[in-house]
Amino acid sequence: MSSYAITGASKGLGREFVRQLATDPNNTVLAIVRNPESPGVSELASQYANVHLIAGDVTDPKSILNAASAAAAITGGKLDVLIHNSNAVDAATMSFNPSQFPFDSEATRAMFEPSLTTAIYGGLWTTNAFLPLIEKGVQKKIVHISSAMAEVDLIRGTGISYGVAYSVAKAGMNVQIAKYAAELAPRGIKVLGLSPGWVDTWEGEKPSAVVEGDAFMLKQFQTIAPSLEGQIQPEESVAKSIQVIANMDDESSGLLLSHNGNRENWF
Ligand SMILES: NC(=O)c1ccc[n+]([C@@H]2O[C@H](COP(=O)([O-])OP(=O)(O)OC[C@H]3O[C@@H](n4cnc5c(N)ncnc54)[C@H](OP(=O)(O)O)[C@@H]3O)[C@@H](O)[C@H]2O)c1
Repeated sequence: MSSYAITGASKGLGREFVRQLATDPNNTVLAIVRNPESPGVSELASQYANVHLIAGDVTDPKSILNAASAAAAITGGKLDVLIHNSNAVDAATMSFNPSQFPFDSEATRAMFEPSLTTAIYGGLWTTNAFLPLIEKGVQKKIVHISSAMAEVDLIRGTGISYGVAYSVAKAGMNVQIAKYAAELAPRGIKVLGLSPGWVDTWEGEKPSAVVEGDAFMLKQFQTIAPSLEGQIQPEESVAKSIQVIANMDDESSGLLLSHNGNRENWF
């Protein structure tokens, strides 16, 4: 019997984690969402008795503390695995190269804000809010869903110069994970950054600009992974990620690993 809490569970990979984990009736699955009425995940809660919806915004310390209290009330104060999966970006400037950022402190901060608040501050507040529960859990695992887009070798190999705030925030997340791993090792807690692969989580029909962007990115990825054919589906990414989480140990604590469980194959 294991308990899991997943942030950003309303859609995409977060919701797929909830779905796959819920299929084992021995699991207790806490789906943390900004809006508990989000259609996709509330359907899962009505389908699976072991899914509990909890309101929680990772960018609001009070809200995520309340979410941890609600989780504790369901699980008896303990949690085996925390998956911090939430993410937000400033979509309007995702295509900017670093040299395009303006000499305007407010505007520049606004471009970084969604990424930093979800990945870095949200990562801290969520982890700290759930830490007392993790300490009482059996597995004692904390996972932050990060990205290989923060890997310097991948950036150098592919030449991907855009997605600056996103990649910088995930790089910071990866360092924060290593810091947590260093701090929490004596308490038997394992911490991992997990890159889920390149996954199609777009809902509905893709606008042509997104289709073109994907095709461009595929060519760039193929410079380091020539056999890559395109995005994988959430089912595959999450099934492999759950396996990586199952295999977490002291040796890998503090690292960023791919959904394939290594640091070589990011796709
Ligand atoms: N898809 C990929 O190819 C890929 C590749 C590498 C890494 N990743 C990482 O994998 C994770 C999931 O990706 P995805 O593609 O599934 O993303 P997504 O579809 O954009 O979903 C993001 C989730 O984060 C939630 N969220 C946003 N702001 C939040 C906040 N302040 N508090 C709580 N939740 C918040 C969203 O909830 P709302 O509905 O409330 O907005 C949503 O459920 C992210 O960390 C992403 O960076 C994805």
